[in-house]
Amino acid sequence: MAQAPERVVPPVGGLPVTDSGPAVGRPVDRVDGAVKTSGRARYTADVSCPDLAHAALVHATIPRGRITGVDAAAALSVEGVLAVITHENAPPMPAPPRENLANPSTTAGGARVAYVTTDQVHWNGQPVAVVVAETPEAAAGAARLVCVEYEALPAATDFLDAVPGATPVKAGLLEVGEERTGDAPAALAAAPVSVDHRYTTPAQNHNAIEPHATTAAWDGDRLTVHDTTQNIDWARRYLAACFGIPVGNVRMIAQYVGGGFGGKSSVWAGTVLAALAARVTGRPVRMALSRESVFRTVGGRTPTRQRVALGVERDGRLTALVHTGVSAVGRVGGRSEQVAAQSRFLYAAPNLLIRHDTTEMDVLPSTFMRAPGEAVGMFALESAVDELAVELGMDPVELRMRNQPERSPVGGKRYSRQNVREVLTRGAERFGWADRDPEPRSMRDGRWLVGWGVAGAFQVPAQLFADVAVQLNADATVVVRTSLHEIGVGAATATSQIAADELGVPVEAVTVEHGDSEQPAAPGAIGSSQTASVAAAVLLACEQLRREALDLARRAPESPLHGRRPAELRPAHGGLYAGNVGESWTAILTRAGRSRLEARTGSDSPPRQTLRTVRAMAGLVLEQRRWVKAATGAHFCEVRVDPDTGEVRVTRWVAVFDVGRVINAKLATSQLRGGIVMGIGAALEEETLVDPRTGRSMNAGLAGYHVPVHADVPTLDVSYLGEPDPRTPLGLLGVGEVGITGAPAAVANAVHHATGVRVRDLPITLDRLL
Ligand code: MOS
Repeated sequence: MAQAPERVVPPVGGLPVTDSGPAVGRPVDRVDGAVKTSGRARYTADVSCPDLAHAALVHATIPRGRITGVDAAAALSVEGVLAVITHENAPPMPAPPRENLANPSTTAGGARVAYVTTDQVHWNGQPVAVVVAETPEAAAGAARLVCVEYEALPAATDFLDAVPGATPVKAGLLEVGEERTGDAPAALAAAPVSVDHRYTTPAQNHNAIEPHATTAAWDGDRLTVHDTTQNIDWARRYLAACFGIPVGNVRMIAQYVGGGFGGKSSVWAGTVLAALAARVTGRPVRMALSRESVFRTVGGRTPTRQRVALGVERDGRLTALVHTGVSAVGRVGGRSEQVAAQSRFLYAAPNLLIRHDTTEMDVLPSTFMRAPGEAVGMFALESAVDELAVELGMDPVELRMRNQPERSPVGGKRYSRQNVREVLTRGAERFGWADRDPEPRSMRDGRWLVGWGVAGAFQVPAQLFADVAVQLNADATVVVRTSLHEIGVGAATATSQIAADELGVPVEAVTVEHGDSEQPAAPGAIGSSQTASVAAAVLLACEQLRREALDLARRAPESPLHGRRPAELRPAHGGLYAGNVGESWTAILTRAGRSRLEARTGSDSPPRQTLRTVRAMAGLVLEQRRWVKAATGAHFCEVRVDPDTGEVRVTRWVAVFDVGRVINAKLATSQLRGGIVMGIGAALEEETLVDPRTGRSMNAGLAGYHVPVHADVPTLDVSYLGEPDPRTPLGLLGVGEVGITGAPAAVANAVHHATGVRVRDLPITLDRLL
């Protein structure tokens, strides 16, 4: 329910008014809750404009080759069809930029393809034509009538057959290649007890509730794009490069986005082609992708093959940890899955080897998907730890307890917090782990086999550069402007809470304007970083505002703040106070004849502020590299398995997290639960099935690609330690990704405990259990 709005009566000197205490830490309702639940929130595909035309894609049906002919006559004869754009008639476009990490305009490309301006086909499903029509129905219907002929070439489409490249990659964003400490193979060979196993995880597709959509309109060489992006800044720069126009000519708007999970971090065909179609037809064009088109044009998680080998002394102390993985990328782009990245930090193994290899295939380029690397890498690692516990005859919680590192085994970095023992202990208590009989198949409920599993969660949230403007008005209202992405996580709400405390006003007095490239540039909603990154900037801007307000007040002899120093004062009661002496913003600004004060953190700030804030933000980003600042957790899961059919039901879940300070438990719990749900999906359901003969996805839709529904998910008991991180602004870590990490392993470990069957290949389907 809504918090009762608190009125702050602007005081002039003396102690004022009600004060509800800090907003940070309170589970206030979402600021966007009412517009969303009432249907008033406008998402990209809701945006309309006069003369709007609609576009649909035609997808290639071969994995590799060349288009030899297009027959668009039937499509063009459909009533309302305006154009069929193919490589035969498309205007020339600059070549799509290759990724160059120093240049953000290149980072956002999902695939390096000159969509529909080339006759080359690089994956089965690549868009080969765009149909534009007066209605979405005409466009979709006509798209089915476009006949394309091909000259097919041999293609590599079967991941399990593919041969990895000879050298580990260390080229792209998030990639760590290979790292070693000591001699892991020798330590493994010498270990009295060891496990050494292979694990696989399948390709997965993004299925945010809102399919990708774009509405694009040109005005001369200026482009306005409403888009389902979770990275306005990247998308804008990338589109500018694609169309050869200045970045400032592209306006990106994404006020609300219905889930991203990484699938909306990069720019995919629909966005580029909506803009191209608008240019060709001279009309504003909306491209609302069908679910099938999302499957065929938006990358997902690449499949992986992994090896985890652990060597241990009889007392359970690890001596060797080997974690290697192969993942696939497309020939025209893609992200390798950094499955072993977290294995540098989790356990105190003195001899450690991690390595990532990739293999190039003729497939849709893969991309970020919630906890890229950890989500499936920890399935293998945390399964292997469980296997080792069985081998040793030791409780898997105890085994983890014994191997907590003081410093990171690779690189010797310090940890900003080391609460893994604490989350394990609390989780075990809440779950009742002590009652577990370690023997597989020992626990039953009627005919169901019951199993209990545990796994750790671990993810390092990023700290990125954010530009925000904060405006403090004379009526003690506050406006925060930043192009953050409200992809369903509650970032605008959390930001309102932070700004409210920093300026001593109620949450209701703060408005966060977001989702538009006209605003100062926030980082993408990526890497569990958005809220903490924006928070760091909001803290800096609000500090600047307090300093400026105090400068105004100190000059006035009649002000109670006359002669006060900044360190004595705190924001409270709608103004600045030292104990019960102080003055409201209204009084300060009114006396000074100012209607508002404004502060900004980014490179476009007033010069006086720039150096200070840019330095502070850069310092944070650099400090991030010297410490391991990880969100951690422990999952405890109960499954029931039908011994005759192999049906697996997740029936109980307890997760305890250490995510630093929790701004708003209502939002954070929702994020963490969402991560666990996605982890249950990865464990039991999600799998993109590809026909190895054609490279075509055979289940390109939610009828064939299963994600958990309510009936698949029990009540998820989520709790936190809640103490602030000592080394981050406001003590925040991110909550977006840590929830999924470890969750698939908790399920797999519970399934093993229930059945005695160890499934090392996801998803755990009936056939793998019987
Ligand atoms: Mo995330 S996979 O950085 O949306």
